[in-house]
Amino acid sequence: IGARHLRESPTSSPLQIFVRAKKKINDIYQEIEEYVAETTLFLEGVHNDKGLIGDKDFQDFKSYSSKVAGIKEVLARDHMKVAFFGRTSNGKSTVINAMMGDKILPSGIGHTTNCFLQIEGIDTNEPYLTTEGSSEKQNIKGIGQLAHALCNNRLGDSTLVRIHWPKTRCPLLMDDVVLVDSPGIDVSVSLDDWIDKHCLDADVFVLVANSESTLMNTEKNFFHKVSEKLSKPNIFILQNRWDMAASEPEFLNEVRKQHLERTIGFLVEELKVVQGAQAEQRVFFVSAKETLHQRLSEAKGQPNNSEQPAGYPEGFTSRYFEFQDFERKFEECISKTAVITKFEQHTQRGKNIANEIGQNVGNLMERAWQERDQKMGERQSLWARLDHTEKELHDVTTQMKEKICSIVEDVERRVSNALNE
Ligand code: GTP
Ligand code: MG
Repeated sequence: IGARHLRESPTSSPLQIFVRAKKKINDIYQEIEEYVAETTLFLEGVHNDKGLIGDKDFQDFKSYSSKVAGIKEVLARDHMKVAFFGRTSNGKSTVINAMMGDKILPSGIGHTTNCFLQIEGIDTNEPYLTTEGSSEKQNIKGIGQLAHALCNNRLGDSTLVRIHWPKTRCPLLMDDVVLVDSPGIDVSVSLDDWIDKHCLDADVFVLVANSESTLMNTEKNFFHKVSEKLSKPNIFILQNRWDMAASEPEFLNEVRKQHLERTIGFLVEELKVVQGAQAEQRVFFVSAKETLHQRLSEAKGQPNNSEQPAGYPEGFTSRYFEFQDFERKFEECISKTAVITKFEQHTQRGKNIANEIGQNVGNLMERAWQERDQKMGERQSLWARLDHTEKELHDVTTQMKEKICSIVEDVERRVSNALNE
């Protein structure tokens, strides 16, 4: 049970579906950009020298390059986004830390997270944070400093603080996943605001529930609102703090069955976001706290190969396994969804642009042929006209010659008559 995220080769991660698709679509757009540039250059020559293409058509054509550049920019920024919700202290921040394999977000008893926290990857080595409405990079030296910086956030619970974390420290970030932590849904009155601001572009939602109690109406209502705005959102439910149930082993199976029935019923019958069998792949019984501890000790080079490492309640191995199972299913789901939502439209747009350019150049060629035919026709009629003139000239000169001859004859006759007389 080594840490999945450290052991697994990056190419076998389901997130690679998105990463490869992103690379491919970026490469294709690179080619489209070159094709547009080449065609524009060609058309510019045609426009200047031959006048085959009008000013307006040429300007319209030139707008393709800015369109393609705009799409390329959006594509380069595209990522997969997962947002975590749940009541205060259910362990949202701890789940994110466990997935990152590091203590990044402050966590603790009581109401800890007081605004939205988005963790996203950077290519440099120094983490920093930025707050809404400012581009100032604030240093983060450690989790204590981060907690302090966040404590000072008085802007309201809908605001967003972005934590820019080195990709090299976490494979999830390396593969373009962005994780969003939220304050407890039970302590906020701005849930509608949250949805509009933070949920509409999320690919996956994780509801972090507390397996010591049961799903609450605040949690359910929030997801009802989310699924009203988004068609069939992808929702995973983590029954967290499952380690606490180990202290009452006699009820373990009963409690698990009850939670499973209720959460599956919520997803299938209430929200109608998944169907029966699929819903079972969306609910996991885990302990984020144990997973985080385990990964931290593995990162320090203390792999624990025994079935039940010391210090954890009974059943640690299966809880840890279930956490990894969640991560795998989550990765499959998020990368497939993100490929469709982020790239499908751009693929269509790219196809349309290539077709439109092809058609434009085709029309231009057609016009050039027509013009050539017309010029050939003009030349032929010119020849015919020349022929005609030549004939006319010939006629005229013949007539003139005859006339002159007759005049000369007439003059000769008259002169000889005069001489005779
Ligand atoms: P807020 O930010 O206040 O909304 O809470 P949160 O949902 O982010 O919870 P947080 O991650 O801060 O965890 C609250 C407390 O629960 C911390 O003391 C964690 O160590 C503890 N905790 C989190 N997950 C588990 C778990 O799986 N098992 C146990 N036993 N404790 C956990
Ligand atoms: Mg928190």
